[in-house]
Amino acid sequence: MANPLFRRKPIQRILDEMAGDSRLHRVLGPVSLSSLGVGAIIGTGIFVLTGVAAHDKAGPAVMLSYAFAGVACIFAALCYAEFAAMVPVAGSAYTYAYATLGELAAWIIGWDLVLEYAVASATVAHGWSHYFQNLIGIFGMQLPEALRTGPFDYDPSTGELAATGSLVDLPAVLVAGFVTVVLVKGIKESVSFNNVMVAVKLGIVLFVIFVGMQHIDTANWTPFAPFGYSGVSILGHVYGQTGPGGQPLGMMAGAATIFFAYIGFDSVSTHAEEAKNPQRDVPIGIIVSLVLCTLLYIAVSAVITGMVPYDQIDIDAPIPAAFASIGMPWAQLLIAAGALAGITSVLLVLMLSQPRVMLAMARDGLVPRGFFAAVHEKFRTPWKSSILTGVFVALLAGLLPLRVLAELVNIGTLFAFVVVCVAVLVLRRTHPELPRPFRCPWVPLVPLLGVLMCIFLMLSLPAENWLRLVGWLAIGLAIYFGYSAKHSVLRNEPGHPRAGR
Ligand code: ALA
Repeated sequence: MANPLFRRKPIQRILDEMAGDSRLHRVLGPVSLSSLGVGAIIGTGIFVLTGVAAHDKAGPAVMLSYAFAGVACIFAALCYAEFAAMVPVAGSAYTYAYATLGELAAWIIGWDLVLEYAVASATVAHGWSHYFQNLIGIFGMQLPEALRTGPFDYDPSTGELAATGSLVDLPAVLVAGFVTVVLVKGIKESVSFNNVMVAVKLGIVLFVIFVGMQHIDTANWTPFAPFGYSGVSILGHVYGQTGPGGQPLGMMAGAATIFFAYIGFDSVSTHAEEAKNPQRDVPIGIIVSLVLCTLLYIAVSAVITGMVPYDQIDIDAPIPAAFASIGMPWAQLLIAAGALAGITSVLLVLMLSQPRVMLAMARDGLVPRGFFAAVHEKFRTPWKSSILTGVFVALLAGLLPLRVLAELVNIGTLFAFVVVCVAVLVLRRTHPELPRPFRCPWVPLVPLLGVLMCIFLMLSLPAENWLRLVGWLAIGLAIYFGYSAKHSVLRNEPGHPRAGR
């Protein structure tokens, strides 16, 4: 291909590289992979954002918000599964883009995945800290003010940053450090730890559904959609109701917020290289975990909006507060502890995924290989980049206003999903002959619907997020042209017109 920016990495070559050295251990089966998926999915989204979305944006129609976002993710997941089975290596969407859309698109996606994994981890660590402080509060304890949260935060009523009076979010920093140590030690230990956490949080979610169901007052579901069913902003024009800052409101706006709750299913694909039988088990892991979580989320949001009138739902801790409000304070303790375990496992999987994407990029020369591709001799983990990820997450979570970052994570992840859906369509045309152990059904309908629904969700986020995404990608492009383009392995190969430059 004439232009090196669009040079694609041949699929056969990706498969050949899998046989090389410095590979990760293959220890994961279908149950562990599904558990990793559930581990990454159920966390801050359902435990915290359900309250924000129901109270401020969608009312009881948040159930439909969960259904809409869940279906969009299932379409994207089917596309991920096709790729993950075909190219079961660590890089996930980054590798798929390299094989189909070329190097520049691959870089953009790799850079974008930092938003999805590292920046999302920081958001989740912050949520963990809130639940932790809530839990010790039940026992009458609290941290010194300086250690409770970052030094400034976004004030939605003024739209500006304001000092919080605190210095650093210490629990968020500590949990990021703890998870980093677990990850450096090795995937096997991480998986056992994850399985326990997943069991605890599934138990809590089922408890919420089955006990909460008996306390539903169906009158709370009327009006069902107090902010309407819309909430989409196209080129500055909002279709539907708007909030005080002009942000879209309605069922769709709720879906764009709670989309965060689904982030993580694709992290199963970043573990393809550690799967015992990736062609079969990675699609199973992705689809089982996502469908299960979609059903659980719809049920939990129906229960919470049925237990409490939508405008009285607690924004910070909606689920424990709902149980406290029906005279079950002991359930508040149980749920807060379970949520804490659940959020820990999200952090574990997201922080496990980030170094694996960097590892794939390092093998291609797009980021420094000596650092990002270093696999620990004894633990066989990408330890240097795991530590770097840990430091990055701890700094962001400890110091930055995370409301802003959470929306940035959503738009960045939706963008990655759009690219994966497009990449499936491209590869079906350019390489129809390649073996596809898992085929996305009803192509082109499913990928096209995936693209449309994800774009719709991107448009339902407050408009400034588009600018933030563009800013983030501009920084990424500067790094690409400053470093990666010159060091690309593909570009420096003998025979390439620019080799040796
Ligand atoms: N889906 C993950 C959560 O809700 C990121 O915490």
